[in-house]
Amino acid sequence: MAKGKSVTVYFCQNCGYESSKWMGQCPGCREWNTMTEELVDKKALSKAKISQESKETARPVSLSQIESRQEERISTGFGELDRVLGGGIVPGSLVLVGGDPGIGKSTLLLQVCQKLSEELEVLYISGEESLHQIKMRAERIGTFTKRLTLLCETNLDLIAGVMERHRPQVVIIDSIQTMYREEISSAPGSVSQVREATGVLMRIAKEKEIAVFIVGHVTKEGVVAGPRVLEHMVDTVLYFEGDRHAVYRVLRGVKNRFGSTNEIGVFEMCDTGLREVDNPSEVMLSGRPQGASGSVAACSMEGTRPMLLEIQALVCKSSFGIPRRTAAGTDLNRVNLLMAVLEKRVGLSLSSNDAYINIAGGIRMNEPALDLGIVLALFSSYKDRPVGEKTICFGEVGLSGEVRAVSMPRQRAAEAKKLGFEICVLPSVSMEAVKDVNGIQLIGVSNVKEAINLLLCGKIA
Ligand code: TYD
Ligand code: MG
Repeated sequence: MAKGKSVTVYFCQNCGYESSKWMGQCPGCREWNTMTEELVDKKALSKAKISQESKETARPVSLSQIESRQEERISTGFGELDRVLGGGIVPGSLVLVGGDPGIGKSTLLLQVCQKLSEELEVLYISGEESLHQIKMRAERIGTFTKRLTLLCETNLDLIAGVMERHRPQVVIIDSIQTMYREEISSAPGSVSQVREATGVLMRIAKEKEIAVFIVGHVTKEGVVAGPRVLEHMVDTVLYFEGDRHAVYRVLRGVKNRFGSTNEIGVFEMCDTGLREVDNPSEVMLSGRPQGASGSVAACSMEGTRPMLLEIQALVCKSSFGIPRRTAAGTDLNRVNLLMAVLEKRVGLSLSSNDAYINIAGGIRMNEPALDLGIVLALFSSYKDRPVGEKTICFGEVGLSGEVRAVSMPRQRAAEAKKLGFEICVLPSVSMEAVKDVNGIQLIGVSNVKEAINLLLCGKIA
């Protein structure tokens, strides 16, 4: 335990803000009741004095002298995960995988171990489950080679020793909140422990070129405990999300030093572990009601991949003074804004109506390109008139009711055609970009009213 002089410091468990006195609200992230007391050994944490020798050996290098090398990537065996990582695992990188408990982080990483251990030395370190529990999970997933080794340990100094002696190419830490260093007196999972543990892992990862995956728990606010600290220390941050009760899971890149952060990977939880979903659009649209009002197909862009989905709206008379509005799978503020646009620009009286919006399939999408779909779904439900099943739309809606351009209209229209849609409604300014997409009727609209007249007031079926 801590030697030397310990001081009491208060840390915000949400963002890692440090303060010498307790506060009800964290000045860093404005969360309430997140400051907790921790004993910190100032001596252990204070930077060691820089020796004269290292002062003399440190030399800057000219950028042009550095040899560029093609960063080799290790494929995880999951195309969906490789895409989110930016093309595979970069040796020596630190990847944080966050997510709610029970979402499937351990399962995903064990499956990654299974594939990687066919060729590489992989070490799976668990601080949460016993060897037998891991074995039970592994039996559901399939067969493993001898190159995967397991270690149940939470003491980070011992783990560091094992990593340095065995030199695996890939290490999984499940989870960072269970790891501790003896020098730090606060409990495992506290900000100073999590920060210190990640620092140690980062040093080993960079020095020994070991790729390290860290599992991080998400607290109820939707962030990994002691998380912001962790997020900017690691190279890549991935969040595994989805409804625990639905089978589909989305792996989303939030930060990536070696690739784009817009990409998502879609997985399905089966009885033998996670399975990749190659054509999420088809899955998202399966089971769409036929001829129902309030259901509109729309297209969202996730990185380089268009994803078609169904927006559902239900507008009904409110029985209370204050109407209820909820949005599942999308931003409620955005929905409120679009309802105001409908009210003012189209003349729909929604103030005494409840409105519920849902993105079918339990997936979260926040792209502005869904605006047009949401507006049409709301209008369709209000008037109880269905939008054609073979019609799809995308476009951002502005406050004056104008339909604005969105990125990559060509890819969206092409994906809609691939999935058998016959009519695609899009911003008129994007018409030029999609003119070489054949086999689907393309209609440009410049404002919401035009789109509504066209699709819901009988101009086309
Ligand atoms: P787990 O990987 O333990 O979640 P985390 O590490 O994120 O807390 O996920 C376990 C959940 O997945 C659990 O509810 C059981 C389910 N599951 C399956 O449905 N099929 C399987 O093959 C496995 C291994 C787990
Ligand atoms: Mg787990």
